[in-house]
Amino acid sequence: MHIHSTVLSGAGVLDDISYLLEGKRRVLFVSDANIVRIEGVQRLLKQVQTLAEDVQLIDSVAPEPTDGHVRALVQSHDLRGVDLVIGVGGGSVLDVAKLLSVLADHQSPKLDDLLGGAPIARRVASLMVPTTAGTGSEATPNAILAIPERQTKVGIISPVMLPDYVVLAPELTTSMPHQIAASTGVDALCHLIECFTSNKSNPVCDNYAVIGLKKLFASIERSVADPSDLEAKLDMLWASYYGGACIAHAGTHLVHAMSYPLGGKYHIPHGVANAILLAPCFEFVRPLAVDKLAQAYDLVPGADPSLDAEAKSHALVRYFGELVQRLQLPGSLQALRIEADELPALVAGALDVQRLIRNVPGTVTGDDIEKVYLKLFQ
Ligand SMILES: [Fe+2]
Repeated sequence: MHIHSTVLSGAGVLDDISYLLEGKRRVLFVSDANIVRIEGVQRLLKQVQTLAEDVQLIDSVAPEPTDGHVRALVQSHDLRGVDLVIGVGGGSVLDVAKLLSVLADHQSPKLDDLLGGAPIARRVASLMVPTTAGTGSEATPNAILAIPERQTKVGIISPVMLPDYVVLAPELTTSMPHQIAASTGVDALCHLIECFTSNKSNPVCDNYAVIGLKKLFASIERSVADPSDLEAKLDMLWASYYGGACIAHAGTHLVHAMSYPLGGKYHIPHGVANAILLAPCFEFVRPLAVDKLAQAYDLVPGADPSLDAEAKSHALVRYFGELVQRLQLPGSLQALRIEADELPALVAGALDVQRLIRNVPGTVTGDDIEKVYLKLFQ
């Protein structure tokens, strides 16, 4: 299976996509109720409807898709003969679209087998268009589904789900509300800096992280303050894409592990939970990753090159805290009405995410995690 994605980017890149639909007859267009109303998405849908013989529209992907939700989508649509899946939306939409590109292939395992770990060998052609700049789902091999009856989330993971084409069209991200733009942007930052400092990082991931962080530091505040700034919006789409690509090569660690219980139990949006955790987690990680954090600090506009590595790593952690404040994201768990007596459950939940805890560049214990959570109640 060919798993190399071709990335098309820039304002207006969607004006003519006829060459992407050559030879395609039955298209599944996957989105959600809000995204499908965006003017540029409507134009894209009309184009697809003109070019393909048959277009089925799914405009109801749920914000936290469950296994039952995907099963219902498969049952209520006729996937036979679908030869292209187009996903347009945030992380949830793209995760579902990636799964549907597999499930539309009649020789693929069914959803329940995939949830049971059946390997993925095939999918139909796919095109992914992110409309938030954060999750980087278009560049990761993961699709995350909530399993309500087990109160957990399961990741179906296979490089086969990486799409044939990724389109980064900044004009589709200009109507994102302020808090979504800010929190998904910080999610991208977490992907980049966690993977860069992960003990699984490698030169491929490092290169992606450096490109992504440079674009992100230069543009995150501008892209949130002025949504019409297409240059900043495109930088953020690239930062998000590279963050996803880093996940594919290395993996996140402490912020994401500690963020899961906040999302799972209290339904705090993923990017918001990450924003609260970013600086406190990196205060803990800092001594374990001084050189990498110093390298990242050098990419911040206006960084002081005369500092030594130790001072640079401190300065980067300070910058993280100030950035979250300037983006007007919540700085503590109290702001979200979570009380300190929830602490033991949070610590247990974070330790449970061993797949990410293992990526921390050093040892981290339950006590360490508790200390970081405690800071969020001060
Ligand atoms: Fe994330």
